[in-house]
Amino acid sequence: MGFSEAQEELVLRSWKAMKSDSESTALKFFLRIFEIAPGAKQMFSFLRDAGDAPLEKHPKLKAHAVTVFVMACESATQLRSTGDVKVREATLKRLGATHARAGVADAHFEVVKTALLDTIRDAVPDMWTPEMKAAWEEAYDQLAAVIKEEMKNAA
Ligand code: HEM
Repeated sequence: MGFSEAQEELVLRSWKAMKSDSESTALKFFLRIFEIAPGAKQMFSFLRDAGDAPLEKHPKLKAHAVTVFVMACESATQLRSTGDVKVREATLKRLGATHARAGVADAHFEVVKTALLDTIRDAVPDMWTPEMKAAWEEAYDQLAAVIKEEMKNAA
């Protein structure tokens, strides 16, 4: 089943609405990740080493949150135009290595997906529909699959 123009539009339209407030969206996204999976904190080197500093003070975590959103949007566009997700070779190699080294497992990708979908639902409740959820899910899953594949090569 291909990714339609309507699905791409659902992803891009909702991201556009959230983007104006990307700081707080990113914050909610990563707080939700650690709410679902507190253990995931141990994976972020800069959190492990930072003692009890509040999570919202970590610019790198916010950057991670925004990156996941932006890359999922790019995936939606690629899926619609080529039916496939391609991450630039150098970026992909780094992503594979970073996540393999951090010990990220399939279950963590599921946690991040749930947190992402919860965040979007809460950020744009008026736009949220099962179709929008499915479109984000597909874009995220295909992107995650590409990263997971590269993690095998990096292991
Ligand atoms: C680092 C993207 C999923 C944990 C990074 C970086 C990017 C990124 C761009 C910066 C470093 C680099 O470029 O290698 C993504 C995307 C994801 C995803 C697009 C999903 C589609 C996850 C998941 C986890 C995770 C599921 C685990 C909960 C980490 C950790 C780092 C990292 C621990 C290293 C941070 C540090 O200690 O410096 N990710 N990520 N990521 N990501 Fe992800």
